[in-house]
Amino acid sequence: EEIHALNRIKRKIREIKDWPKTGVTFRDVCPLFEDPKAFHDAIDLLRDRYSSYQFDVVAGVEARGFVIGAALAYSLGKGFLPLRKEGKLPGPNLSKAYQLEYGSSTLEVQNFCPRRGLRVVVVDDLLAKGGTLEAACFLIESCGGTVVEASVLVELSSLRGKEVLEVRGWKVFSLLKYD
Ligand code: PRP
Ligand code: ADE
Repeated sequence: EEIHALNRIKRKIREIKDWPKTGVTFRDVCPLFEDPKAFHDAIDLLRDRYSSYQFDVVAGVEARGFVIGAALAYSLGKGFLPLRKEGKLPGPNLSKAYQLEYGSSTLEVQNFCPRRGLRVVVVDDLLAKGGTLEAACFLIESCGGTVVEASVLVELSSLRGKEVLEVRGWKVFSLLKYD
């Protein structure tokens, strides 16, 4: 049944060659979000994994990480901590610039309350070269939290982002892998 669910999810991920740049094959999860069954399956698989974990909050990376992160947090009765692109959050904030497969960006987390010892599951839609999730995990630790695991729907294995995170001591989980 899990295999069937994963196949339903996989069928809803669109592949766009040479977007947003030549040489990049973009994996688009928006059709998966739009499909009630596939979306439900994806969140349920993550919920089943994290229901046995001891943690406090789900952190989601803007923008597609918000869709998954908020649904997962709600389904587990946890809070949600947004990691936003630069300039969106009223501060005080912590910021981290990073490179991703097709550009560069900056993520921010609000930093006005103590988070010492907070246990955090960090989620995004997709892991490519790993710069985004590395910045996300860095911000969680910078504001006092502990990264329990970084979690994505899709991992682009050949880009080796998982190694970028694992050398820094952060565990990584992905529902689906593409070469
Ligand atoms: C995409 C994706 C991940 C990131 C992965 O987001 O949603 O967050 O790239 O790439 P990396 O592993 O090479 O860092 P994007 O920055 O395009 O932003 P969006 O969610 O706002 O569309
Ligand atoms: N983010 C970075 N690389 C990506 C890709 N190939 N598809 C979707 N999102 C991405």
